[in-house]
Amino acid sequence: MNVVIVGAGVAGLGIGWKLAKAGAKVKVLERAQAGSGATTASGGMIAATAELGHSETPEAAFARRANELWPGFVADVEAQSGVSVDYRKNGSLMAALKSEHRGHSHGGEHPAASGGQPNPHAQGADIAMLTAEEARAMEPMLTEDVAGALWAPHEATINTHALVRALVTAFVKAGGKLLINETAVLVETEGGRAIGVRTPFALHRADACVIAAGAWTFGVEGLPPGALPPVIPVKGEIVVLTPPAGAVLPKHVVWGNEIYVVPRADRLLVGATVERAGFDTSKSPEAYRWLLRQSTGLMPALEDWNVAEHWAGLRPATPDGLPVLGATAVDGLYVASGQYRNGILFAPAVAEVMSRLILERANDFPAFDPRRFDGSAPHVPASVNETAHRAPGKDSGFQEWHTGF
Ligand code: GLY
Repeated sequence: MNVVIVGAGVAGLGIGWKLAKAGAKVKVLERAQAGSGATTASGGMIAATAELGHSETPEAAFARRANELWPGFVADVEAQSGVSVDYRKNGSLMAALKSEHRGHSHGGEHPAASGGQPNPHAQGADIAMLTAEEARAMEPMLTEDVAGALWAPHEATINTHALVRALVTAFVKAGGKLLINETAVLVETEGGRAIGVRTPFALHRADACVIAAGAWTFGVEGLPPGALPPVIPVKGEIVVLTPPAGAVLPKHVVWGNEIYVVPRADRLLVGATVERAGFDTSKSPEAYRWLLRQSTGLMPALEDWNVAEHWAGLRPATPDGLPVLGATAVDGLYVASGQYRNGILFAPAVAEVMSRLILERANDFPAFDPRRFDGSAPHVPASVNETAHRAPGKDSGFQEWHTGF
């Protein structure tokens, strides 16, 4: 079987690698460089509980499946590529602060979201509730304002740049072909069936075409209206801090009400804003200041840390907040997108589900069917000026959007 995948992020590469290992002839087309979209803009968190809690939704079940797959996925990709992806199962602390305003800004259920009380959906056999003293003993930099925390020991992180290198190497070793700087312009159809993907350079013919282009999923042309699900970009900005001499990095991912901090080798990522701003990936001074303010609210000692980097990326979101994984109304055309805040977490499960769909026609997660929408195009704000839900006068200036499109 010949497969063409659009997008060399963690989803496209993961699917491509899985299919190539199963004997398919796979090409991945990438408009820029591998991993240059949401994959390396992300914090690299494998945070099933912090993002999705322990509810019984299909998304939470999918997150748990992905979480189970991660250790084997890491072992396999490291063995095949010889690249370490720095998988750290160090757990997450979800801190509730006494003085923080109520409400939550990220997609998951979080202790601070319910006014410092752990959300019942976030509890499970492997979750522990910590007192303020216990939380501060685990993370001494935590503010004295902490009221308590949830401890999720199963949560992990990876280095996204290393993961991309490892996936590319493993994919190519398995016989896959990666074409970078080659933008998918349109899906070519014949008699209502997708027969390949056209770029400025060639028509890449395939038995199955997969759009795994993250926030750019809706941009591929040549298809009847409504054939692609209405995926829109949701901007996220991250600042990266480095410690002054003598300071020690946190050992765990630590979540506050509004932000999270992720230790990575010699640096600390502070993320992230959540903003509908079209395809704008500029770094905003407001986001920079807001992230620093939030980080020192959570860990006052970060005041003395240096800012090493600041970046912005685009998460792919859908109107109902669920991923889109599966066949489309056009024969031979599949979509793997809409991972929103969980692209890294979901990656091994996305590869599993998509390869079973394409090779075996097995649909393990029908709730994620891309055909569930009504066919209307998404409204993508043209610029930051059209950003939805900017909170007037509110301290943060960044808020989750809840109303769909
Ligand atoms: N998963 C964290 C984020 O999207 O900010």
